[in-house]
Amino acid sequence: MWSGKNIVLTGFMGTGKSSVGRRLARKLGLKFVDTDDLITEQAGISIRAIFEEYGEEKFREVERKVVRKVSGETGLVIATGGGVVLNPDNIEDLRRNGIIICLTASPEKIMERTAGKDNRPLLNTEDRGKKVREMLEYRRPFYAKADVSVDTSSMDLQRVTAMILKHIRQTSGK
Ligand code: S3P
Repeated sequence: MWSGKNIVLTGFMGTGKSSVGRRLARKLGLKFVDTDDLITEQAGISIRAIFEEYGEEKFREVERKVVRKVSGETGLVIATGGGVVLNPDNIEDLRRNGIIICLTASPEKIMERTAGKDNRPLLNTEDRGKKVREMLEYRRPFYAKADVSVDTSSMDLQRVTAMILKHIRQTSGK
C-alpha cells in the first residue's frame, strides 16, 4: 500500500522512534533501519563509547555519513537519533526521499522512559530533568520542521503506529 518515500522518524530521545519504527515497518512490509545501530556497526563500538573516546563532534560526523547513505535508499522506515535534526543537511537529504514524522513527548514521559538507562551520553548528567527541558527547548524549532508530529506521551505503541499509518494512507490517497 505504501510504495513511495521512506518513512523517517525524528524526535527527542525516549519518544519511541525505534519501537514505533520497527512496528511500522512490519505493518508496511518495509525494511527497518535505525541510524544509531548503523553508526554502532560502522564504528564497531557503542554510541556511549564513541562519545567517551572521540566526543560528540566525531559522533555527528559518522551520523552525517550514515544519514546521507540511508537517504539514498528507498523502501525504508528510518528511525533517527534524536540529534539528527540539528544538521540541516541531514533534513534536506532525508526529505528528498522521505516523509518526516516527528514523535514528541512531555519532559516527564521522556524522563520516565529513559530512567535507569545510561546508554544516552547526553543525558548522563547530575540533573537529568533540567537537561531534558533545556535540550527540548533548544531543539523545538528543529523538530518542528517535520511534515507531521505525533505526541506519544499518552499513547501506546499500537495507537501511535495506527495514527501514523492513517496519516500516510491519507497522504498517498489510498
Ligand atoms: C542523541 C540521541 C540518541 C543518540 C545519541 C545522541 C541526541 O539517539 O543518537 O545518544 O542527540 O538526541 P535516540 O534518540 O535514539 O536515543
